[in-house]
This record gives sequence, structure tokens and C-alpha cells, in this order.
Amino acid sequence: MSEQIATKWDRNRERRMRWWHDARFGMFVHWGLYAQLGRHEWVMNRERIPIADYEKLADTWKPKRRPAREWAALAKKAGMKYMVMTTKHHEGFCLWDTAQTDYNAAKRGPGRDLVREYVEACREFGLRIGFYYSLMDWHHPDGARCAKDEAARRRFLDFTQGCVRELCSNYGKIDILWYDVSWPLKSPELWESAKMTAMARQLQPNIIVNNRAQLPEDFGTPEEHVQHAEKGRAWEACMTFNGSWGYMPCATDWRSVREVLGLLQNCASGQGNLLLNIGPKPDGSVPDEAVPRLAAVGKWLKQNGEAVYGHMNRTGGQLEWMPCGQWTLKGKTAYFWCRNWPGKELALGGFKTRLVKASYLVGGKPIAFEQTSNRIVLKGLPKASPDKIAGITVLKLDFASRPKQVLGAGCVVL
Ligand code: GLC
Repeated sequence: MSEQIATKWDRNRERRMRWWHDARFGMFVHWGLYAQLGRHEWVMNRERIPIADYEKLADTWKPKRRPAREWAALAKKAGMKYMVMTTKHHEGFCLWDTAQTDYNAAKRGPGRDLVREYVEACREFGLRIGFYYSLMDWHHPDGARCAKDEAARRRFLDFTQGCVRELCSNYGKIDILWYDVSWPLKSPELWESAKMTAMARQLQPNIIVNNRAQLPEDFGTPEEHVQHAEKGRAWEACMTFNGSWGYMPCATDWRSVREVLGLLQNCASGQGNLLLNIGPKPDGSVPDEAVPRLAAVGKWLKQNGEAVYGHMNRTGGQLEWMPCGQWTLKGKTAYFWCRNWPGKELALGGFKTRLVKASYLVGGKPIAFEQTSNRIVLKGLPKASPDKIAGITVLKLDFASRPKQVLGAGCVVL
């Protein structure tokens, strides 16, 4: 039975995931009780805070009105196409109105369903909706015991499946189910992962599911690094903005606009997605440092989105790294993301394909070029990078067929 179901979802994967591949860029939101402490979302575990003390945070949490609208507005402005919010992080506090536990936002401090507000905000701003759900639970009495006690495991699985069922039943169409940390059970059988996800799919036939319930499902989730997966396997790199997922004001190593764009280029060149995190403050507002950065990223994407969104081809095996920048590729068109502007001329070695046209992506102005058997030289470039937002100018190169660049390590001109 479960094998039959798995095959069906494998077969329609491409259709289910098309929007997600085209979307490329999403916003991760880590929000929970931990925001009040401002010392990372693992604070309960790392500082060994007793449950009875930590629980008090459930009553002192008083977010402002509808902060999710601010996140969604910012995500939209940043050029992101979807969001994934923590409905329950490892701390165990449920952000929605659940019947599975009273430890939830509706019954405690916030006094309302924060997941519903999030869902409504996503819909208002035309963003796809993802639910993050931590399997690991530091608060539930069976969350650790389930590893050693069969009755506890049964109770914990009923709780877990009850949560997933509610999330997939009570909020209309949900696009992504994003499981996290499957501690402490050591196999998908012990978690009943196939059964749980089959249930989610029954309720949400188009949903896409990540790989963190110990089954590969629809996409992989490299964390804090970009790793192109093998061909045929979808992936999404999830990244903090400042080193912490949860709100942490003393973590000040914010990624720059150029760095975020570099991540996007790296993801797009491997047909992957980028899920960039914000950790809202306890009242729900977005940390000040994130706002102008995301606005600038969005401004840049508005002009250069053609090199990012939609169906991209993998550059691996086709195009080579260059000292002045990197590539993305769409059919016969290669986009050169020039981040170290050379001035005057740019030489690109090793092309085995005929260049038909070179132009600036922004504005479309043609660029003069010469192509010889082993080099393309773009000519008449301005002294400084034309892109004033991030100093990353995209040069659009249209080839006669799918471009192929071969450089190798040596300097032999054949
Ligand atoms: C890790 C962390 C967690 C974070 C997640 C995001 O698994 O435990 O805090 O939510 O990564 O990918």
C-alpha cells in the first residue's frame, strides 16, 4: 500500500515541484518563545534551562498585531516567492491553535493562532506557504522517552501525527511541509514517516516535502552551505542571515547584499533554491539589519531576475569559474554575473560555441565582441560596474547552441 502511494508521488513530482523550481528564492522564518531571550533558538538546550522555567515564556510572549504581514511584504519586496515558518520548533511550543497540547499560542500569551495570521499574510502577498515542523520536541513528556519506551513512542507519534494532520487540514492549501530534526528515533519506520507523509499528501495532494523525516521525499536541505545535489534530485540551501536562526541581537555578522546575491547565483547555477532566514524579534518585527539588505536584493532582482528565476540549466560540466564572476545558464543563454569589474575589456576563455550576441541584461544594450577559436573578448566596457545596487552587473551572452566552455588546468592552446 505505502509503496503504491510512494510511486504515485514519485511520478507526479515534476509537476508538483515546477512552481518551486521556478521560484528559486524563499524566506525562512524562525519565530518562537526563544525570541524573547534573544540567545538563539537552541537556548533551552544549550543553557540547560529547566522546562518549568522555560514554560513561563509562554505567558510573557505578547507579539504585536499581525507581524506576519510585515514579513510577507518584505519577502515580496525582496523577490522571494515563498515562505516557510516554524509552526513548532524544538522548544515544543505550537504557534497554532492545536488540540494536541495546551502549550500553544492560542491558549497562552499571544492569545491567538499565529500560524493562521502567517497563512493569511502569505495569501495576501501572493506567496506560497510552507510549514516547518520540528519532530524533535524538548517539551513533550514523551519527546525523549519515546526512544526507550514503546508506549511513550506510540503516544508521541499520535501527538506528532495529530499536529501534522491539523496543519494540513485547517489552513487551506499548503505548499511545503518542512520537517526538521528527527531525534531521537533512529529510523523512518520508528517515526512512521511514510505513513505520516502519506497522510499529509492525502490532505494536500500537491504538497512538497523535504528530506528531514529520514526519507528522501521531494528535496534535499543542505544547511548553512550550498551543495549542488546529483542530477535529478532537487535541493534547497537554507541559510541564516546572521549566524542564528532565532532572533539573536548580539549575532552581528550579517550577510551583505553581494553575499546574498552570490548565494542565489550559486543556487541557480545548480538548479537549487535558496531559503534565507529571518528571526523576528519577540514582538514580531523584522531585525533592522535585514530590512535594507532584503530591499536591495529585491531591487536588484527586479532588474536581473531573468538570470535567476524560471527553468535554469546546470552550469556544471558546461561553464567554468572565472576570476571576475560566475555563471547561470538558461538554454543557449549564459548569464555572466560580473562581480569584480575588469573595466574596458573582459576576456572569457575556452568557449567552443559560437557567440551570437552579447548585451547588458539591464537595458539590453549590445556589447561589441571578438571571438577567436579559444577566446571571447568583450569590448568597450565602461570603467566602473554599471550596477549601482551591488556592483554585480549581469552580461547576457546568447550562443548559437548550448554553450560549452573548456579550460582545464593547463595552458595548452590546441
Ligand atoms: C537545524 C537546527 C534548527 C534550525 C534548522 C534549520 O536543524 O537544529 O535550529 O531550525 O537547522 O534548517
